Amino acid sequence: MTTKIAVSNQKGGAGKTTTSINVAGALNQLGYNVLLIDLDPQGHATEGVGLEDEYDEDVINFYDVLPDLDVIDETAQLIYEHSEMDVIPSHQNMINIEDALAGVPNRENRLSMALDNLDEYEYIVIDCPPNLGVLTDNALLACENVLIPAQAKTTSIRALELLFKQINALEAAFGTEIQEVGLVANEVGTDNEADEMMEWFEEVFEERAPVWEIRKRVALQRAWNTGVSIFEHEEDCDMEKVYLQIAESLEGIDGER
Ligand SMILES: Nc1ncnc2c1ncn2[C@@H]1O[C@H](COP(=O)(O)OP(=O)(O)OP(=O)(O)O)[C@@H](O)[C@H]1O
Ligand SMILES: [Mg+2]
Repeated sequence: MTTKIAVSNQKGGAGKTTTSINVAGALNQLGYNVLLIDLDPQGHATEGVGLEDEYDEDVINFYDVLPDLDVIDETAQLIYEHSEMDVIPSHQNMINIEDALAGVPNRENRLSMALDNLDEYEYIVIDCPPNLGVLTDNALLACENVLIPAQAKTTSIRALELLFKQINALEAAFGTEIQEVGLVANEVGTDNEADEMMEWFEEVFEERAPVWEIRKRVALQRAWNTGVSIFEHEEDCDMEKVYLQIAESLEGIDGER
């Protein structure tokens, strides 16, 4: 059984990539076989796990696979090994994927089809792009679970409202249920705005899902720069335990529904 998690918030810089890499790293620490997918055409997670060369090289990638039903079950060819997890990196061609998918039937379900045969993983973690376009729709529909990172700033409120609206629209259009599995407040500071936003998150998510607090830590950036999660990085960091809590909580959610 594979549990798939879309890490999504269309707001730029919310912490999607940092959360994706470190939650994948935490799941690996718990002994699971994990696949990290960088679905963002910018390729930040690809860089964050040291696969930046693959981003530029002439190799098969989701741009070739998602629009083409003849090769959509060949996703295994896209996978690279990393010390902590397997990875499907992004690719520069992904910048044009929205156009490539524009005319194809069932375009929102292409990723779901592409991931159908990958049953050796216990977890698939997908780093989403910073918009509510067709790639994010694909991730939400393929996973039916969403982990939401957000900065503890008032500008996050509108972003989350729009994300909830999009999730509701997808659920209605595709007759499915997309479960919010948690809110990761990211880069939480010690100012009043952060305190107020933590209260707002707790209030909004009280009945829905857990809320975690990740503080601003340069160790997380340094881990990213060396191509590993905080767990494989040589520095100790007090946020490791929070990422482990998130990973443990993912053990309790439904896998394939
Ligand atoms: N908790 C943290 N402590 C320190 N730096 C952080 C933390 N979280 C994120 N950052 C830094 O902030 C920047 C934005 O974070 P990140 O890339 O994870 O967000 P994102 O939502 O993926 O952004 P984008 O919308 O561009 O994809 C990155 O440079 C990252 O290293
Ligand atoms: Mg990102």
